Amino acid sequence: MEQKQIAEFAKAIALETGELIRDKWNNADLKLSSKGFRDIVTDADIASQKLVTERVMEAFPTHGFLSEEDDGSLPTEGDVIWVIDPIDGTSNFARKSPLFCVSIAAARPTDDPFVVKPFVGVVYDPVRNELFFASDGSGATLNDRPIAVSTVDTLDSAIISFDWPRQPDIRQTTLDTVTNTIHNVKTMRSIGSAALGLCYVACGRLDGYFNYHLSPWDVAAGELIIKEAGGRFSDMAGQPWRGDVKTSLGTNGLVHQSVIDLGQNKSN
Ligand code: IPD
Ligand code: CA
Ligand code: CA
Repeated sequence: MEQKQIAEFAKAIALETGELIRDKWNNADLKLSSKGFRDIVTDADIASQKLVTERVMEAFPTHGFLSEEDDGSLPTEGDVIWVIDPIDGTSNFARKSPLFCVSIAAARPTDDPFVVKPFVGVVYDPVRNELFFASDGSGATLNDRPIAVSTVDTLDSAIISFDWPRQPDIRQTTLDTVTNTIHNVKTMRSIGSAALGLCYVACGRLDGYFNYHLSPWDVAAGELIIKEAGGRFSDMAGQPWRGDVKTSLGTNGLVHQSVIDLGQNKSN
């Protein structure tokens, strides 16, 4: 019962938040500030997070948050943790490029501080009006229609996506894997939104997505959506994802080990 209620709530709040960020993307002079090396935040990120967290606190006052933008006032503990990326793809958003989304997951905490278990996930792209959704055990949908990962099972037919991390050393690791991968696959893409990249794997537009440095809010919804669409999600060594490891790989399952091998520079 609670899962169904949370699922419907999460969809509604993703649509409402998506409308807010689309309006700001269309109309506003965005206020940008730096929050670290190669990292920016806009007033829209802050407004989006405020809207989601306020709505959740009204509806579920005992729940906690794991949300990207700094806000010391948010409770971090609860029987349900809301894992929120208020805008995933901020670099695109800030340049008025149409590849960004809001990513919201409801998860159960575990005894391990670096692991939560998402049971509802929503990723909403407000420019295309595409709502990716999954609820644990109920499959994955795009705008309420069931989706499934691709059936591509050979690398030479596979489209593999990735994004660039900000840190120079991790960027070099990414470049090494890209250099190895590009000679073995059909082609590669980099769209600048990890959550959308994972959802594009879930609906078969891509066959795999990797990233060497993601945070829980980047992956929580996408992880569940990929798994419920029949795919596989792990770190780049094939182990269950953890917040202290950060390397991430979502695939259709069929090319999973091959992408891991490419990342470890094994021949294919
Ligand atoms: C970023 C995007 C990007 C990925 C970065 C993320 P943000 O999220 O998902 O694709 O490469 O690692 O931080 O900053 O736009 O929410
Ligand atoms: Ca993000
Ligand atoms: Ca973000």
